[in-house]
Amino acid sequence: MTSLIPTLAGHYYTDSALFAAEQSTVFEAMWFCVVRGEDIATPGSFRTVDVGRESILVTRSSWGAARAFLNVCRHRGARLCDAAEGAVKRTFRCMYHAWAYDLDGKLVAAPNLVKMPDVDRVEYGLRRVHVREWLGYVWVCLADEPPSFADDVMGACVERLGDLASIERYRLEDLTVGRRIRYDVAANWKLVIENFMECYHCSTIHPELTHVLPEFAGGYAAQYYVGHGAEFGPGIEGFTVDGSAGQSTIGTIDAAQDRRYYAITIKPQVFINLVPDHAIVHRMFPLAADRTVIECDWLFTPEVVASGADLDPSVELFDRVNRQDFEACERCQPGMSSRAYRDGGVLVPSEHHIGAFHDWIRARIG
Ligand code: FES
Ligand code: FE
Repeated sequence: MTSLIPTLAGHYYTDSALFAAEQSTVFEAMWFCVVRGEDIATPGSFRTVDVGRESILVTRSSWGAARAFLNVCRHRGARLCDAAEGAVKRTFRCMYHAWAYDLDGKLVAAPNLVKMPDVDRVEYGLRRVHVREWLGYVWVCLADEPPSFADDVMGACVERLGDLASIERYRLEDLTVGRRIRYDVAANWKLVIENFMECYHCSTIHPELTHVLPEFAGGYAAQYYVGHGAEFGPGIEGFTVDGSAGQSTIGTIDAAQDRRYYAITIKPQVFINLVPDHAIVHRMFPLAADRTVIECDWLFTPEVVASGADLDPSVELFDRVNRQDFEACERCQPGMSSRAYRDGGVLVPSEHHIGAFHDWIRARIG
């Protein structure tokens, strides 16, 4: 019996019709992580984000709750907010005929509105999408009936770590963004996920990471075993580019979590990396079959960030890992349209769990 499993065929990574199917059956159907909560810290601060084929306006209500709307005026369909980010005082006002919506999406003003009793202020309010705030991030779901957040999002953490308490102990919602880097990657989003799921490549392209986590040189990712965190090597003081000491440990984690690295994939577009003194969170924005933007946040305790501590040695480790990984993904993308990959490639035993991801995507797009 062979120990090899076939991958997806090359066209899964290049076909724009297949990408359109993914937009409707994956990104517009599942919980999608859009912004860090502190990006919309105050009522009226907003971000606009592309989710599937829609532009989504994410803001905070006067009550402090995250809100998300389709970024489309209900009058004649103009895009409501053009800016990627900004802040309004009380209303979003359309540039076309000045319909204005409050932070809960209700239509509150329009020229001659009082003379037009048929224009119901609630019925013609902005179309809301479902919102959750968890781990300090805002997640939206465009589906009419969203899937269970507990099963899909929290469940991915439980599946990986064994329980929910293990991630909650890092108090991600209380950490703050110490650094954010945006990567524009010329590769299909599934190549990025597959890369993140395996560590067969670690010994070849990640010298700094395998220096800190020597067990990664063996090719089996921490994600391969439930609850397992890769241990820092002897003599390694912190999760930094040269293994030197990092910042002070997040006080609430367990002794068993100290000196260990945990990685979690939350389908379809979030990666979470946990180390004793910080967390690294990736949000992927698939823009085309061959283009994916990735925003990566390095989260530290507010005390560490306020102290002005030098975060560079911590940030540089995973920034290098990211660049090494994304370069590898970009190197694969052209091969996906080669006749050499018409029937795909193979997964070796340390990559077999990627086969489950392939089964999942096939089932979703039908
Ligand atoms: Fe927005 Fe007319 S399209 S007010
Ligand atoms: Fe990697």
